[in-house]
Amino acid sequence: MYTEKELLSEAWTRLEASVLKFENEPIGTVAATIDKSAQQFNYGHCFIRDFVPSALAFLTKGKGEIVANFLRQTLKLQISDKNIDEVRAHMDGVRPGIGLMPASFEIVEEEGQQVVRADFGERAIGRVTPVDSCLWWLILLRIYQRATGDEELVQEAGFQRGIRLILNLYMLKQFDMYPTLLVPEGAFMIDRRMGVYERPLEIQALFYAALLAADELLLPKNKQDIHTEIEQRLARLKMHIREHYWLDLEKVNEIHRYENEQFGEEICNKFNIYPESLEAWAIDWVPKEGGYLAGNLGPGRMDFRFFAIGNLMSVICSLADETQSQKIMNLIGKRWIDLVGNMPMKLCFPAIEDKEWELITGCDPKNVSWSYHNGGSWPVLLWFLVAAALKVGRRSIAERGIRIAEKRWCEYKDKDRWPEYYDGRKGNLVGKKAMRYQTWTIAAYIVAKDLMENPQHLEWIAF
Ligand code: GLC
Repeated sequence: MYTEKELLSEAWTRLEASVLKFENEPIGTVAATIDKSAQQFNYGHCFIRDFVPSALAFLTKGKGEIVANFLRQTLKLQISDKNIDEVRAHMDGVRPGIGLMPASFEIVEEEGQQVVRADFGERAIGRVTPVDSCLWWLILLRIYQRATGDEELVQEAGFQRGIRLILNLYMLKQFDMYPTLLVPEGAFMIDRRMGVYERPLEIQALFYAALLAADELLLPKNKQDIHTEIEQRLARLKMHIREHYWLDLEKVNEIHRYENEQFGEEICNKFNIYPESLEAWAIDWVPKEGGYLAGNLGPGRMDFRFFAIGNLMSVICSLADETQSQKIMNLIGKRWIDLVGNMPMKLCFPAIEDKEWELITGCDPKNVSWSYHNGGSWPVLLWFLVAAALKVGRRSIAERGIRIAEKRWCEYKDKDRWPEYYDGRKGNLVGKKAMRYQTWTIAAYIVAKDLMENPQHLEWIAF
């Protein structure tokens, strides 16, 4: 049995041990501090998305250097007209667009020299596209600026240019006409086949926060031609998500009574959602006081699953309005066993099972029901939960979440060893294939504890 103090101090030791160095400078953290036998996986890489809670943790201690180094390094890896030929030469048919940031990078030795090697998905399992990397990068750049007060870094020409490249790529006019971002399967934290292609909520929430960040970070002279477009996109995106993704009892009832095959402008069922697609669990699951944003929306398709990051980020960046944010927290409170259980918290609820699991995941054994991305519980979500709860004045939810994780870890610390995820309907089991000493599990705990003590740090993250 450990005390909370010991647990936190162990977390710091482990976080420090995960630091990745390049030319003797700290430039990131590896995804998990693993033993050699597991090194065939890419957990020795520094992932852009995984580094965010590490960065937050370091910033709470005033350690901005590692974050600045990380931002500089990843900026160098961003695809631009300078490096595009060189990058593409290594790739077997994969063609990342100009502006894209990698999913991760590693330090390797080439001819006796250390080099940074990026992975844009050309080596990743399933060859997935890391759409969220650029978005997290922008969000982190703003976090860094707010936490350190360093205005110079972001004003450097290279950074201003990097931001513009991202905007050019993400605001490119393609075939889609919605304000949402249309993405391929597994383009974010859920980087496997899980039926999350099209317009997943997590990407929309990150896109919204990233656009707000970019607009804040660009110097006036560098956004003259794009500022209005950003503002318009933000407004349309906000309206679209708040109106069409929102699900509460009233909306569920509306869907239950939907007429179909409606044509024209003034219609109610704009996306032609069939009431039959409303899953039985969803009907009884949404409490009167609660609500949430649906996982995805497209023609004839509404994904009724609850996705934690999308919903919590929507609260954090005010993509959800005030009432909706309160209702999301009410839902979490009322459906605590389902969504939090014994480890905060489920990445996605409920799990898909049987035939649906076969069809949607392609029989992925890692994503069997109530495991990993498919209803598994991820301790990294603790920091999102705490930040969202504090943002809307629901401190008791934040406290409750931390207490649960702390209780388990103080009791089982040497057994659990900071796993990547937990399995089971209540999150009782260490995940079947979970890595140990997963860095974002450790960092999230540090960040969650810090936010409780220093709620003013929320200003780094929130909008
Ligand atoms: C897994 C997760 C992904 C994470 C990576 C490193 O691939 O699905 O979200 O970034 O591991 O931790």
